[in-house]
Amino acid sequence: MAFVTRQFVRSMSSSSAASATAKKIVIKHVTVIGGGLMGAGIAQVAASTGHTVVLVDQTEDILAKSKKGIEESLRKVAKKKFVENPKAGDEFVEKTLSSMSMSTDAVAVVHSADLVVEAIVENLEVKNELFKRLDKFAPEHTIFASNTSSLQITSMANATTRQDRFAGLHFFNPVPVMKLVEVIKTPMTSQKTFESLLDFSKTLGKHPVSCKDTPGFVVNRLLVPYLMEAVRLHERGDASKEDIDIAMKLGAGYPMGPFELLDYVGLDTTKFIMDGWHEMDPNNPLFQPVPSMNKLVAEKKFGKKTGEGFYKHK
Ligand SMILES: NC(=O)c1ccc[n+]([C@@H]2O[C@H](COP(=O)([O-])OP(=O)(O)OC[C@H]3O[C@@H](n4cnc5c(N)ncnc54)[C@H](O)[C@@H]3O)[C@@H](O)[C@H]2O)c1
Repeated sequence: MAFVTRQFVRSMSSSSAASATAKKIVIKHVTVIGGGLMGAGIAQVAASTGHTVVLVDQTEDILAKSKKGIEESLRKVAKKKFVENPKAGDEFVEKTLSSMSMSTDAVAVVHSADLVVEAIVENLEVKNELFKRLDKFAPEHTIFASNTSSLQITSMANATTRQDRFAGLHFFNPVPVMKLVEVIKTPMTSQKTFESLLDFSKTLGKHPVSCKDTPGFVVNRLLVPYLMEAVRLHERGDASKEDIDIAMKLGAGYPMGPFELLDYVGLDTTKFIMDGWHEMDPNNPLFQPVPSMNKLVAEKKFGKKTGEGFYKHK
């Protein structure tokens, strides 16, 4: 009897697994909205792993810059990947670029997308407006995903009529190098959408992890409070920033110290995340403002990208 039950359960679970698999969307055509740091990286990786990609941004000039950056990055990847065979490297670059096109009109290109990945400015109103507009023009099956670092995926899903086909797809900078993708499931995201995105992440050569729609998901929820605690330690005069950086590299084995990492990530970006969390949960001690970082941001010292942050950069 136990055997029969086990067989029955096994055959039921394999047939339901098969039907769940059959229902998954195989993502082949990707529209990436936002050709900045993250969007360009996502487009590059998707195009180099057998997907057709349309990259959308606001102006031709921005897109020309994105394309130049992608080409340079691809040449670097090719040089490493095809050390022994530069000709194959050139072919890889050409093939990837030929799988990619650019557009300034998201509405006009979204009709062919299996997946729309948004990587525009970190502003909920602007993102909601974009998703609401595209919802009217994208095919029924198309999955929408946001690469937001700090905004609520549920709020964006609610701007559309496809809450079940909406999720977070959080990549890390630089996208061609960093292996992780956080796949964020809201209470409304269907299992089919979730599994389709897990599969998609794997075809990109990434390792997906899943997380509920909570502030910072996994990585930033742990990383940002740690970075802020390092700044507070320094503000109290307990240790110099140089010593804190050295301590975390040599004592914890981190590749960068917290101040180096803050300058790399961008102090403006980090402040934006902290402000959002503080607004959401004002009494949480981890989310309290950090005056010395906010002062640097007010002085437009954002870190590496502006040439100065906690450190001076050449
Ligand atoms: N920078 C990071 O390390 C990082 C990491 C993970 C996630 N993110 C998230 O990715 C998103 C993009 O960040 P980024 O660093 O690439 O920003 P970015 O400023 O480099 O690029 C944003 C791009 O979006 C374009 N854009 C803005 N509004 C648009 C619209 N309505 N339609 C089309 N294009 C539009 C801008 O012209 C710009 O080129 C944000 O949500 C951010 O939180 C950033």
